[in-house]
Amino acid sequence: MIDNRPVSYSGVQPSGNLTIGNYLGAIKNFPIYSEQYKCFYCVVDQHAITVRQVPAELRRRTYETLALYIACGLDPEKNTLYVQSHVPAHTEMAWMLNCFTMFGELSRMTQFKDKSQKHADNINAGLFTYPVLMAADILLYQTNVVPIGHDQKQHLELARDIVDRFNQLYPDTFTMPEPIIAKSGAKIMSLAEPTQKMSKSDENENAVVRILDAPDAIMRKFKRAVTDSDSEIRFDPENKPGVSNLLTIYSCFSGKTIEESEREFDGKGYGDFKAAVGQVCCDKLIPVQEEYRRILADKAYLEEVMKKGADEASYYARKTLSKVRRKLGFVNL
Ligand code: TYM
Repeated sequence: MIDNRPVSYSGVQPSGNLTIGNYLGAIKNFPIYSEQYKCFYCVVDQHAITVRQVPAELRRRTYETLALYIACGLDPEKNTLYVQSHVPAHTEMAWMLNCFTMFGELSRMTQFKDKSQKHADNINAGLFTYPVLMAADILLYQTNVVPIGHDQKQHLELARDIVDRFNQLYPDTFTMPEPIIAKSGAKIMSLAEPTQKMSKSDENENAVVRILDAPDAIMRKFKRAVTDSDSEIRFDPENKPGVSNLLTIYSCFSGKTIEESEREFDGKGYGDFKAAVGQVCCDKLIPVQEEYRRILADKAYLEEVMKKGADEASYYARKTLSKVRRKLGFVNL
């Protein structure tokens, strides 16, 4: 049956234990689109190998990320959930788009600059062309909206530039994707260095709250979160980055606005505030964790979801791929 709804597409790398940044900035928002949009949510394992992975861990995390998608409310009957490497169209499309992406554009990507500093011994070509693979992911499905955190905005802008360039040469090939970046929660900061983004690869465990952290670890990490030397609980990211980050986290988990949250803690001390942030975080994550463990225990089910997702995704991807091949002048047999 042909599904004519607009398309929502996003992906998460199975490259580490996911954080509340991944949750609040991205995964939590994915199910919002499941009714009105045809949704594709991908576990992007091919992106993960731009930095060295331990193979057994990558494999395990691929299952885990899929289980987490489902535990966070993504019903595999209503969304196409799949693993990137199961749909070879992604890499085929990436090659074609590589030929429409400029060296200078890729050199300006801040994530490439950051990652090449961090992995100076392994600045491979995949790390450099990574945003082209991401553009291929999105464009293959004629995507309308891409729910992402703030750090992926530049990559999405590149995908849009590729669409512009390609469509000018070969009209009506790709749909122009729009980023959807939440007003609050799109940039959750490190608890140890609140001017830096919370990152799943941070070596300081106290800086990062993971979706699967035990409740006592969550409470402890918030208790240790860096704040400042005055005592006012006020949203002011410039002068009070630590407190503002905690207010954002509180507001996202509780569903209250920042102003309501500020009022709630007016006159209270940092100790009580941090405990309350830890508590709302646990309240929301514990049910997700329970559901996750239940789903992860059934590997056969997860493989069934992967297989069904790969079949569905391939069907849509092949349509775009054959259109692009035709436009470029390849012989379609
Ligand atoms: P990844 O795996 O690094 O992150 C997954 C999603 O989580 C968001 N995110 C955050 N949001 C708020 N605060 C944070 N501290 C935070 N950290 C991460 C990211 O913005 C992202 O939305 N290249 C992508 C994966 C990808 C993709 C795609 C996304 C591959 N192909 C196509 C969308 C569409 C990445 O590395 O995300």
